[in-house]
Amino acid sequence: MQSVFEQDLERLVKQYDQPGPRYTSYPTVPVWPQGSFGREYAEALEAEGTKDRGISIYLHIPFCRTLCTFCGCNKVITRDAELVERYLKALEQEMAAVAKGLGQRKTLSQLHLGGGTPTFLSLDQLTRLTEMLKHHFEIDLEGEWALEANPRVTTAEQLEGLFDLGFRRVSFGIQDIDPEVQRAINRNQTSTQSEEAFSVSKKLGYQSINFDLVYGLPLQTRVKFRKTLDTVSKMRPDRLAVYSFAHLPWMFKAHERALREQDLPTAQEKIGLYLDTVRHFTKEGYVMIGMDHFALPGDELALALEKRTLHRNFMGYTTLHGLAQIGLGVSAISDFGDSYWQNPKELDDYLEQASDPKPQRGMKLDEDDRLRRQVIEGLMCHGEIRFDEFGGNGFDFQEYFKDTREAFEGFEADGLVRLDPDCIKLTDSGRLFMRNLAMPFDRYLQSTSTPRFSRTV
Ligand SMILES: C[S@@+](CC[C@H](N)C(=O)[O-])C[C@H]1O[C@@H](n2cnc3c(N)ncnc32)[C@H](O)[C@@H]1O
Ligand code: SF4
Repeated sequence: MQSVFEQDLERLVKQYDQPGPRYTSYPTVPVWPQGSFGREYAEALEAEGTKDRGISIYLHIPFCRTLCTFCGCNKVITRDAELVERYLKALEQEMAAVAKGLGQRKTLSQLHLGGGTPTFLSLDQLTRLTEMLKHHFEIDLEGEWALEANPRVTTAEQLEGLFDLGFRRVSFGIQDIDPEVQRAINRNQTSTQSEEAFSVSKKLGYQSINFDLVYGLPLQTRVKFRKTLDTVSKMRPDRLAVYSFAHLPWMFKAHERALREQDLPTAQEKIGLYLDTVRHFTKEGYVMIGMDHFALPGDELALALEKRTLHRNFMGYTTLHGLAQIGLGVSAISDFGDSYWQNPKELDDYLEQASDPKPQRGMKLDEDDRLRRQVIEGLMCHGEIRFDEFGGNGFDFQEYFKDTREAFEGFEADGLVRLDPDCIKLTDSGRLFMRNLAMPFDRYLQSTSTPRFSRTV
């Protein structure tokens, strides 16, 4: 029988399940102007070069051996060794151009290899990549080096070699351990592969091991997904990211056609999967971080949540702040000097411009953008908005955002928030609909007519 909470939730899901951003950035990527921003990017790099702060590099390796049909990432399925070498060469050219553009030798304090599948590259290729970085940047020996790895293609030798190169954080894609679900998404990954990836990393001394799961995948049921939750929590990874399946058929026509719509859980079932996830990991002693992350209590993310020093960026929740974020590689995003940039999303376009980078999207944030970005980040990281934290002396938050008042009164009536005189506080139910609660602060949302976002539930 359904509890009162779940009956109430059924009504809320019907009301709030709608397309909406995940707010890894504000303004969101689809509203950044498109074009060719070579000159503007060069100017932004030059300005950043005059600042005395370190950098964080996100390096995108798009390659994968096979296609997982649920995947919304920028990836290239290939076995073409020559193409991979051309890509590495382009990365080297881009790195050199960015380092030159910055003008001063910057300290690299954070490195994230994302994909696609970074461990698609051989250890020799990965070593070459880190050599390139050492050549162009000053390496902060206390810096944080992380990578994403697919257990199906990651060997113990690679994990050991990467550890020797300085990587201390690794994130493994698991998604779901059920064989039927795996078949439906074309991703056959045995539990042994996942367990070995975990135990090898643990033995080597990786300080933080993360697992990615996805809920809302075809053929997932609450009963079967509980088994996945049980299996992964027994390993006790330091962190878990449990993403809501972003179904984007208009973006990935070719492979998402392979997903059968009738196999997808309904919005109601999907929220049930999420509730089970939250209950399970909380019971297992994990701390819930924002929208879709969980961490062991001693983990930096959990500590940052407690201290209100948690932040959110393109890679999700993070403890690092104040670094210029520079994206290298196809589709990679940069965020520094109050501007966002995105490299070309097509591989051929990226290869062509790498030696003289020309982002294909770019946006400079005005004062209003920066304020709204801070409000949305606060809401998603701390689950509350304290009015006195925004806008400086004499700033009247409620007056400035008076257009959002009606929406928030509605949220309060639905039990999603509590409106205090000096603060908006999310309730437990509100945390399930965080994306919806951020949306009234999004000034651009009304202008996007095509379905560019996945659904909020
Ligand atoms: C770029 S992938 C890298 C992981 C690695 N390639 C692997 O498959 O193991 C990062 C994570 O994004 C998540 N992801 C990919 N497509 C998604 C989608 N459509 N909706 C929600 N999460 C998705 C998956 O959990 C995946 O592990
Ligand atoms: S989930 Fe990972 S391995 Fe699968 S296609 Fe996406 S990036 Fe590649």
